[in-house]
Amino acid sequence: MSEHKELVIGLFGFGVVGEGLYKVLQQTPSLKAVIKKACIKHPDKKRNAPGSLFTTDRNELLNDKDINLIVEVIDDAKAGFEIVSTALKNGKDVVSSSKKMIAENLETLLKLQQETGSSLLYESAACASIPVVRNLEEYYDNDLLHSIRAIVNGSTNFILTKIFEENLSFRDALLLAQQLGFAESDPTLDVEGFDALNKWTILLLHAYGIVAHPEDILFNGIQNIAKSDAQVAKARGQQIKLVAQAKKLINGGVGAYVLPQFVSTETPLSFVKNEYNGVVIESGFADQQFFYGKGAGSFPTASAVLSDISALRYEYRYEYKKLYHHQPHQLNDDIYLKVFISFTDLAFVPKEAFEWIEEWHAQESRKYLSGVIALKKLKEQSWWKENGTSLIVEADGIIEDIEERKLKKKSLELAGLL
Ligand code: HSE
Repeated sequence: MSEHKELVIGLFGFGVVGEGLYKVLQQTPSLKAVIKKACIKHPDKKRNAPGSLFTTDRNELLNDKDINLIVEVIDDAKAGFEIVSTALKNGKDVVSSSKKMIAENLETLLKLQQETGSSLLYESAACASIPVVRNLEEYYDNDLLHSIRAIVNGSTNFILTKIFEENLSFRDALLLAQQLGFAESDPTLDVEGFDALNKWTILLLHAYGIVAHPEDILFNGIQNIAKSDAQVAKARGQQIKLVAQAKKLINGGVGAYVLPQFVSTETPLSFVKNEYNGVVIESGFADQQFFYGKGAGSFPTASAVLSDISALRYEYRYEYKKLYHHQPHQLNDDIYLKVFISFTDLAFVPKEAFEWIEEWHAQESRKYLSGVIALKKLKEQSWWKENGTSLIVEADGIIEDIEERKLKKKSLELAGLL
């Protein structure tokens, strides 16, 4: 049997994830991985570990020749990037859970890994305990990966569950998510969809070889979803979830977004409650597969960090197969979305932005419409995020064959059937 590499860890961050990892490592001595030093920002905070473990000087870790692995679990993307890039340049392998930092610096981090030959792993950065990064990287050929639909943010899923199924107020649900350690220290990152967007940017790379910047992808959070939207969902036998979607298109490329979406109560994503995440993959031959697990919290996140540490014992690295060894895909914004929109005043919704409107209710105090709109229009315009307007993608929301459908609609109209 070959000897495994001994791992001497320099840990950055001792918050929800860092402390979780410290405890988890104590319970897994067989891993032969020890934390030599932990770098923290606030030395006066009480910590559940010996004082000698801690330092505030990052160079003590980054320049220590004995330390061959840096684990970075802080929530400051700028500082995180400096730490991770220096560590890679200093010949150390890195495990990181900083989704924002990774998503915003994909290109540079890819380059750094190529130049230095060091390995950067970040399974915990997307869907916490679900091994989705390595799965997409290793298992699926991108030609066969038709679509991925996922819930990738635990806090928003927790909030939606609590307010629509347990009648909590938005404020109380968010507070609870914060107390349980699910939410980001700036919870607007969760609520307004930024965290899910960052995770989706990372997963698109491993699924399809797409090197995108978060700004390239259409997104929103759950901040404008109204109680009446949930009632509409219930009446239709659906639920509202914050869904990240990617689909290979007939005309080439991949259509992607992160938006609130109706999901039928019979489909797997509707079973994903509270801080759980779920990923539905549709691939050629295998049909549909569903991955499910805790998407936030101390131990679930630490478990993914632990798995990366364990993988580094046998020198695992992402090969970015879809990017370097296949024909990588590009994002394609040339799609149309079937959407439900609720709002308080007709003046807030530009009717001319739609390809067509199917239904239109303007009587009640909260008005709504169902229609089809170009994804590009939503990217260019912002009315649908303003004035409390709520946009929810229909369950079968992506439309590719727009011209065909327009013709069909026209002929039905002419025949007096619409
Ligand atoms: N705030 C994140 C979430 C933590 O709620 O999903 C896990 O990445």
